[in-house]
Formats: sequence, structure tokens, C-alpha cells
Amino acid sequence: MPRRILVTAALPYANGPIHIGHLVEYIQTDIWARFQKMRGHDCVYCCADDTHGTPIMLRARQEQISPKELIERMYAEHVRDFLGFDIAFDSYYSTHSKENRICSEMIYERLKQGGHIAVREVEQAFCEHDRMFLPDRFIRGTCPKCGAADQYGDSCEVCHATYSPLDLRDARCSTCGQPPQQRRSKHYFFQLGDFTDRLKDWITGGRVHAQVQNKLGEWFDQGLRDWDISRDAPYFGFLIPGEKDKYFYVWLDAPIGYIASTMNYCKQAGRNYQEYWCDPATEIHHFIGKDITYFHALFWPAMLMGARLNTPDRLTIHGFLTVNGEKMSKSRGTFVMAATYLKYLDINYLRYYYASKLGPGTEDIDLNLEDFVRRINSDLVGNFANLASRSITMLRKSLKGRLGKLTEEARAMLKGIQGESEAIAGDFESCRYAAAVRRMVGLADEVNRYIDRRKPWAAIKTDPEHARQTLTASINAVRLLTIFLKPILPGFAGRMEKIMQIEPLQWSDTLVLLEDREVGEFERLIERVDPRKVEMMIEESKETQPQAASGPTELEKEPLAEEIDFEQFMKVDLRVGKVLKAEIVEGADKLLRFEVDLGGRTRNILGAFRQAYQPEEMEGKLVVVAANLASRKMRFGLSEGMIMASGTGDKDVFALWVDEGAKPGQRIH
Ligand code: 2FM
Ligand code: ZN
Repeated sequence: MPRRILVTAALPYANGPIHIGHLVEYIQTDIWARFQKMRGHDCVYCCADDTHGTPIMLRARQEQISPKELIERMYAEHVRDFLGFDIAFDSYYSTHSKENRICSEMIYERLKQGGHIAVREVEQAFCEHDRMFLPDRFIRGTCPKCGAADQYGDSCEVCHATYSPLDLRDARCSTCGQPPQQRRSKHYFFQLGDFTDRLKDWITGGRVHAQVQNKLGEWFDQGLRDWDISRDAPYFGFLIPGEKDKYFYVWLDAPIGYIASTMNYCKQAGRNYQEYWCDPATEIHHFIGKDITYFHALFWPAMLMGARLNTPDRLTIHGFLTVNGEKMSKSRGTFVMAATYLKYLDINYLRYYYASKLGPGTEDIDLNLEDFVRRINSDLVGNFANLASRSITMLRKSLKGRLGKLTEEARAMLKGIQGESEAIAGDFESCRYAAAVRRMVGLADEVNRYIDRRKPWAAIKTDPEHARQTLTASINAVRLLTIFLKPILPGFAGRMEKIMQIEPLQWSDTLVLLEDREVGEFERLIERVDPRKVEMMIEESKETQPQAASGPTELEKEPLAEEIDFEQFMKVDLRVGKVLKAEIVEGADKLLRFEVDLGGRTRNILGAFRQAYQPEEMEGKLVVVAANLASRKMRFGLSEGMIMASGTGDKDVFALWVDEGAKPGQRIH
């Protein structure tokens, strides 16, 4: 029975461009939606721009345009970026839409009728100069706990304390710098506590991952507090019915944007949104980041309960993206915009890399750029694409492109792949993409071994029919692997379908094998990643920060390591080494591998010289080697010592040469 499934990803704010951090989620969700469609389910993927709120209003003011102009421009940019990454939304809409206004009003009225809305006076910071109430993030001042200057109105980035903006010392409006006044105003509250028991029930039953359940347990223990859903003018958003200068808080109408986007889809598809939001047979799956769990696991289901609409069936919550193990950073150039990525690299790399890292939990995922290059070049290019290109090119060149019959042995090998189909499907279903990718890589390895055993390149000369049998088997294997890869790499799969002259692959096509038919001309599926392109992308993403005029620099502040005495220092046994061989390390853009003669003892050493020297330049030269350094197992092999150099790294590396007259193994003092 096909399932009816609505899938959503969080709505990106319309005040900034899409970056590679956002893309973790849109790619994760896209893979899931594509997988469900390939399985024959009635699945739609809806999303929209999140357009309301103070930051968007202020940004438009700053640019001297209307908020509407701003959100229209951002909308076009977002759509362009998502298309660029093959994110296939069935509807990409906007929260600033008629559907969203009507729906927000409807839900609000139902909550009001149910007695879940309270009205109270609230005292708040108000800027006389800007004539507006200030959200916490727009107040800066001194932290009341630790005294750090220039902190936000609600929390301190130095001591991590949270507090009320009323307690902030020396508070200022962050736009104009004036101290704010305190003013009272009427606010509307959604009484979340009314739903405590229903929410507790809702949380259980596999709707959220166990890690998240624990966090939610803590929130329930603290008690669910009323939620302020109104904001005073000036504000960019929807007016609260019956009010002239009060608006819905952006976080009220944002998730309702999921419904508005569904309505937009239904209008185009000739369907009714009630199929999705009123018929309990429909499954609703939200993909979100861990920072917005509270909204999606508490406020949003409670709103839907109060409005008598369907509640989500599953929340898939991912962690944040780090790059090279650290937070994305503008100064390091790792805060890469989608549009910048598109200028330099193939999107299939990122889709594949993220998939190979993603699981169902909320752990952060790391984009390690060296590992990225290595993994794409070894798995995607060296393993999958290579399998296809070797087999199809040979079949076309020497056997007129015609597949033959499958032998019993070939059928057995293919059966092994077909037998993994449900396990891989299970991995996709439960968002264990990393596990799915591992299985696929294992299968591709096996097929490569099968070909190596049967050596079609040799057989082609003596027994072409033997070669045809082998290639028929491997091309069938490629086709099966393409089915598994298709949710992750739709473009790659599309090219393969074209080459093989077959209809768009569905999951059930794993049951079919191809014999006695023609295969079309081969075309390149994917290029190797060029590490220089990665560097160029990072370079372009670097935002140089103006140096502070005075005060110690970061370096001057960095404390020195623990003192060592002369004897300890002399323990390092420095010897003259002769570089016998120097070579590039596949997949590592910084390293060279050396074979060094230390006077009768030969050592294998890995060193970060690649960007500073050509391997040939170093061969035959005498260098200084820390010879008694314990061997270390590094990702690219064992390193038995260290070649000494000066400089700060990358291109700024100078090997310490030793005069030609010296002897390998000689001690250096
Ligand atoms: O955190 C954010 O980026 C929000 N714009 C997400 C909104 S998701 C949904 F609730 F609208
Ligand atoms: Zn101000």
C-alpha cells in the first residue's frame, strides 16, 4: 500500500543567503523524499521562505527598500541555490502569503475558542529614538553576572549566563545606541501548559529520537510556560485579528508556513490540503536542526492539537555542521555560501559526502576538507564511476555495446547485491544514510574484485564472449548500485539512465536484470575533485576582519607551553637524512611521503611539504630529521620520524637543508 507522506525541511529566514550549513538539512530531507518517491509512495516535499520578524524589517530599512522587496529578492536567490543543489521541492512557498495569513488566523481563532490564549500586560525595553520595542537580541549591554561588556539582552557569550534584558547593566539599543526605556504593553500568550499531558503522550511512540526524548523530559520537569505570541508595531508580519498595531510573532506563523506550502502544492496538483493536515492516515515528517527543537516538539504540536489538525508523525533532528572540526568561520573561509560552492565544485560531491556522514541522531557532522577530497576521489570516482566507465567503455569499444547473457556465477554475484536492497532501504527509511553508503561501497568493492578476477581486458582478445559475460554482469551491478545511489545522486543516476537507455529507475527495478540489449555511448559521470578548487572556494569565502587598532594580538595572548630544561631538549636526536624518494600522497593535499636514508637505516616519513615543494625538488637532498621520534600511525600511513622545517605551514614551509658534504646518519648539535 503506498503511503501518503508530507515531508518538510525548516523554512530558511529570508534575510540571508543559503550556506553549506543549511544544506545539510535540505540535502538530508531531499534524499529522504526522493527515496520515498522511488519506493512508489505518494510523497511531497514542501518548504518556504520564513519572511517575518524584526531582523527582516530592520535589514530592509538598512538597505532602504521595503521588506517585501527584500523577501522577493531573497526568495529568488534561495530558489536558485536550491535548484543548483538538485533539491526537488514539490512546493517552495513563502510565509508572506495569503494562504499563510488565512491559516494563521484560523489556528489562532481555534486556540482562542479553546480557551488557550491569555492576555496580559508586559513591561519591555522600548527605544524612544527608533520608536519600537526591542527584541532581546537588539539590546546590548554589560552582563549582570560576569561584567563582560557588549553582550546580548538575553544571554552572555562569555559566561553563558541567561537573564532578562531588564537586568542587563548599561543597556543600549543596538541600532542607535540610546539607552532604552521601560514601557508596558498588552501581549497575547499561548498557554502551552494546557497541553502538557497530550504532549507527553505525543513525544513517546517513536516520533523523536531517544536523545531528544531525554532533552524534552528536562523541559517537562521545568514545567511548560506560557508563550508570548504577539509583537507590537512596527513589525513585519500578520496583524492579529481585531488589533491595529499588534502582530503575530514570527515563530507563530513560521511553522504554519508548512501548511501554506502544502496548500500551494495542492493548488497546482489539483488536490486538497485537508488530505495532509486533517486525514490521520497521512504521515507528516519534519526535518529540523537541533536549535529549533523546542518550537517543533512543543509549541507546534500543541498548536496543531488546539486547532484539531494532524500532528507530526516524526521529527528528524540533525546537529550542526562543523568544517575541519571547528565552527564555520568567516575569517577561516569555511562559512561557504551555496552560490560560492556552485562556482567551484560539483554538487554531487557534497550530497555524497553529507550522506556518507549522516545518521538519525543529533551529533554534529564534520566536513573535513581533506577527507572530503579523499573520499570522493576514492569511493565516488575511483569505485562507483570507475566501475561504470571501465565496463561500458569496453563493451562499446570491442563488443558493439551489446549485453549478452548472465552466467550462473554472475547471477549469484548480482543476487548478493539484490539481497542488500531491503537493508539499504531500511537504512534510508530510518535516516541511517552513512550505513547505507557503507553497504554500497562494500558492494562496489566486491564487483570490482569480480572484474579483476575475470580480467575482461585480457579475455577480450582471446575469448570475447567470456569478456561479454563479465561486462554484462558488471553493467548489471552498476545499474543496481545506481538505484541505491539515486536518492543521493539524482544527477549522476540520470546520466547513467541515459547511457543505459533505460526509464527512470525505481526501487522495484532492483528485481529486474538486463540481458541481450544495447547500451548507449558512455559519457563522463563525474570528475575527480581538484583540491585546488577546494582551496579557491575557501579563499573566496574568506572575510578579512579589520585588525584591532591596539591591544595584544591573539598570538601575543597565547600562553607559552610548559617549560622544558636543556637536557629534555637534547633528547631529540637530530640526524642528517638523505631523501631517497619523495612522492605525492593520494587524497592528502598537504602531505608528501618520503623515504629517508639515515646512514644505513631507511625510514618512511610523512611531512606537510606538498604545498611548498615539488617532490622532485627534494629528492637527493640532505635534510634534518628528528630520528628518535616514536613512529606514529597517521591516516595516510605510518610515519617514522620528522623532517625538520621552519615556517608557519602550507606554502610557508622551508626545509632545513644540510650541506652536501655531510653524511647521512651524522648527528647534528
Ligand atoms: O531557525 C530558522 O531558521 C527558522 N527560520 C526556521 C523556521 S522552521 C518553521 F517552523 F517554520
Ligand atoms: Zn534605538
